[in-house]
Amino acid sequence: MAVKTPLAIVAMALFPLLGYAENTTPPWVKSAIFYQIYPPSYQDSNGDGIGDIQGVIQRLDYIKSLGVNTLWFNPLFKSEFKDGGYDITDFYQVDPRYGSNSDLVQLIEEAHKRGLRICLDLVAGHTSDKSAWFQEASKGHDRRYSDYYIWPDRIPDDVKGKEKDQIGGVIGEDSFVKSTAPRASYYIKNYYDAQPALNYGYANPNPKNAWEQAVDAPGPMAVRRELENIMAFWMDKGIDGFRVDMASSIVKNDPDKKATIGVWQDISNWYHTHYPDAVLISEWSNPKESSSAGFNIDFMMHTGKYNFNSLFVNRVGGEFAPVVSYFAKDGKGELKTWYKLYSEQYNATKGNSLITLPTGNHDIQRLNAGDRDSVEQLKVAMTFFLTMPGAPFIYYGDEIGMRFQTGLWNKEGSQGKSTKNRAGARTPMQWDDSKNAGFSTTDYWNLYLPIDKNPQRPNVAKEEKDPRSLLNYTRNLLKLRASSSALSAEGDWELVSNINRPYPMVYLRSSGNERYLIALNPSDRPVSASINNLKINQATRVVGDEAQGTLSTQAAQPEVNVAPISALVFKLE
Ligand code: NOJ
Repeated sequence: MAVKTPLAIVAMALFPLLGYAENTTPPWVKSAIFYQIYPPSYQDSNGDGIGDIQGVIQRLDYIKSLGVNTLWFNPLFKSEFKDGGYDITDFYQVDPRYGSNSDLVQLIEEAHKRGLRICLDLVAGHTSDKSAWFQEASKGHDRRYSDYYIWPDRIPDDVKGKEKDQIGGVIGEDSFVKSTAPRASYYIKNYYDAQPALNYGYANPNPKNAWEQAVDAPGPMAVRRELENIMAFWMDKGIDGFRVDMASSIVKNDPDKKATIGVWQDISNWYHTHYPDAVLISEWSNPKESSSAGFNIDFMMHTGKYNFNSLFVNRVGGEFAPVVSYFAKDGKGELKTWYKLYSEQYNATKGNSLITLPTGNHDIQRLNAGDRDSVEQLKVAMTFFLTMPGAPFIYYGDEIGMRFQTGLWNKEGSQGKSTKNRAGARTPMQWDDSKNAGFSTTDYWNLYLPIDKNPQRPNVAKEEKDPRSLLNYTRNLLKLRASSSALSAEGDWELVSNINRPYPMVYLRSSGNERYLIALNPSDRPVSASINNLKINQATRVVGDEAQGTLSTQAAQPEVNVAPISALVFKLE
């Protein structure tokens, strides 16, 4: 789908002068609705209990029917699966358990036929310790891949006792992994020991530590060029972009991120010049920074300072620690924390790059978790996700309200250090009432992960038939969003309720003369808000019914009343 226009080429040449990402977001991205697929759990086509590419192809019509238009897949590449596929042994090959490179090309073609775009996961920062690069590099100083990795001969005193910050790329004592290889006594890892960090250099190399190379030293430059090879390899097979894993961490010891941004500007400039119709999405959690590095979309979710944790129950760590959150029926949450973080990023990136607040992902609890367990509660949260600015990301299964599974064992590294039960968000998609919920024909004990045992568990077939299901609600919200520029990625957003009275949360989306008012009440009590400085001639209800709330426009100050656990959307004239 990539087309390079002469205008785009001229614009590329001007980027460094103009402020980077300004012109690199292709128009389609502004109406992109993403659907994330965790490959082993979506659809098994060959009865081995693990989802695969042919399985996804079988489900493309369903995906299209949701109203999404872009898919993002967690890594599909050859892996040892010590970290769910984020420990790659060969970046240029699809792992046989998912199919072949040809299957992926077929998927791209079948998706494109239906107007769906495809993004892959780019694990820029590390490989598996079993990759041929690492194996070769371990043998000595003068091997082809020797400087693709970082090889300390000791742990410096000033690092002893310090903890690493894996997302930020700051080295701690636990970043040093003891090695018996001839190359050196240690290597630097990124996440698990089996994930040696690729060498993009250090922001300020310490001359006393010979292994700390500058970002423009030959080794780090070779790694940069290799990353571009990987990107070109898959782009030339027809994909539409990448989500970049731990993008903020590639340069080591770079707390102000200047060197990291510089390296990404080099890579993203190359990428946007060659593939001006492609998207680049970062796992960075600081849209201001990632945007200047050349990314078009960044996540604000559970990591880093700029997160949405105060909105959702215990999105980090153990299973259900009693964390106060806004989207909980006890109504004890507050909006100030999130509002401050979000509006800072929103105002800084507006008109430039997009923020995404995803419904979930493979690292965090699903929306349906703890006592957020009713269809009504999930509808309120879904209304929030699909009426906010930026790029919506729906995690597979969230559209039917799949339940987060507690008490699961460690599957392929799912029990991370800070994220204890990632398996609970990675269970098989629930399609229908047949064997294994239609996910696989295998025997139960061969399944990648067990399926929700609740006999009342949601599934696609049931929800298709029910006009009031979460599935149909999600589809309707996406139709509404697609019909309106006010509700689109770049429509304006303003919180119009009083931040000190957090329930209900009321915001306005607008573009030119088009305006929508959204009122959300996740709490189990009726609430109301009067809105200052908002002139309404006429309000047409587009989401919610009379029983869920009203908007009175007679008085000088419009007032919105929202019933317990309800969401309302009005079109304003
Ligand atoms: C972030 C990914 O989302 C996560 O699943 C993975 O374990 C780490 N990066 C390491 O690659």
